Amino acid sequence: MPDKPSYLGLLNAIAVAEGRAHRYLTAWAATTSRDDVRGVLLTVAAREGEHAMSFARRINELGFEVRERDADELDRAMEIVTASCPDLEKMQALKLQRLDTGDRPDIFDEMFKDHSIDIATGALLGRYIAEERDTGRLLRRCYEQLEAEVVAPAQ
Ligand SMILES: [Fe+2]
Repeated sequence: MPDKPSYLGLLNAIAVAEGRAHRYLTAWAATTSRDDVRGVLLTVAAREGEHAMSFARRINELGFEVRERDADELDRAMEIVTASCPDLEKMQALKLQRLDTGDRPDIFDEMFKDHSIDIATGALLGRYIAEERDTGRLLRRCYEQLEAEVVAPAQ
């Protein structure tokens, strides 16, 4: 087996989390009655699924395999998104409106502190981070729209 890169755990955590998000966002998209919310969910789900596969591929190229972990987290998310409550409450339960931190630090700021990251992994990671931040903005805008409608319901 090749030498284990110090960032293998990070790649594995991303692959697992993105695969889960792809599954629960797709399930949620199938339940919502709103075209605008479904559009956002499917855009993000497509990104998440692609991230899961790309990170799994990179882990494989490095000579390792994705290891599943904390499988019950998917069950919890699936329970939330398939419940018969409004999209706004599902978003709050999953804290999706909090992913966008604006100019404040976020979880991605730490990722490039490991200077040993190889070129191919760095390129993948950089694109992933930019897409995740864009996703955070998309979800926050969607959340704010839903929230505004609760405060001032459409006539
Ligand atoms: Fe993600």
